[in-house]
Amino acid sequence: MKEAGLKKSRIRLISPSILSADFANLQSEIQKLTTAGADWIHVDVMDGNFVPNISIGLPVVEALKRVTELPLDVHLMIERPERYIEEFMKAGSAYLTIHVESTHQVESCLKQIRKLGGKAGLSLRPRTPVETLKPYLGMVDLVLVMTVEPGFGGQSFMLDQVQKLDWLDRERASLGLQFLIEVDGGINDKTKRAVGLADVLVAGSYVFKNDPKAAIQSLKSYD
Ligand code: DX5
Ligand code: ZN
Repeated sequence: MKEAGLKKSRIRLISPSILSADFANLQSEIQKLTTAGADWIHVDVMDGNFVPNISIGLPVVEALKRVTELPLDVHLMIERPERYIEEFMKAGSAYLTIHVESTHQVESCLKQIRKLGGKAGLSLRPRTPVETLKPYLGMVDLVLVMTVEPGFGGQSFMLDQVQKLDWLDRERASLGLQFLIEVDGGINDKTKRAVGLADVLVAGSYVFKNDPKAAIQSLKSYD
């Protein structure tokens, strides 16, 4: 009974992905998201190497930082992120998430993010077993579970990834850790039901292809 009560009172955060925004009008898109109740702004950085797409980089993070007080939730889909951590922190990232598959220096990357005052996030591709994250769970503030293959917005949600949330939630409880669990990819008013354990929902196309306020409200609700 106590647990059920706790769960209801949990707050779920929404981090809209600007990958689906109008890049020619980013400032007004950010204002729209702020008015609509977004908690964070999710920024997808892609290098055309770790993923087969190129999106945005440091100058855009710097520019966003100037026009919003919402935390920038920066998702690095780049090879060897250790080359850029300092710059992404200087640019204004609040949460900086790297992929476990993208570097041989996962531990030092996470430590560097925290040392520079950031919140350290770790993500994994759908095909990567969640147990791969075990050695790092004590070093992260956020685990980002991909529910699509990283690289593009607008893909279909992969239901088979949900078991990763269960495992992370159990590990978090048994190890007495506090990291947030975030999901990214194909999240909408239907698929949100499958990710009830997640603390943070990323959504790109669902927020931007609908009325952002109604979409964010719907994602926040546990109904
Ligand atoms: C995919 C990105 C996602 C993407 C989500 O590589 O990490 O953040 O923008 O977009 P939707 O919500 O449209 O699946
Ligand atoms: Zn993302």
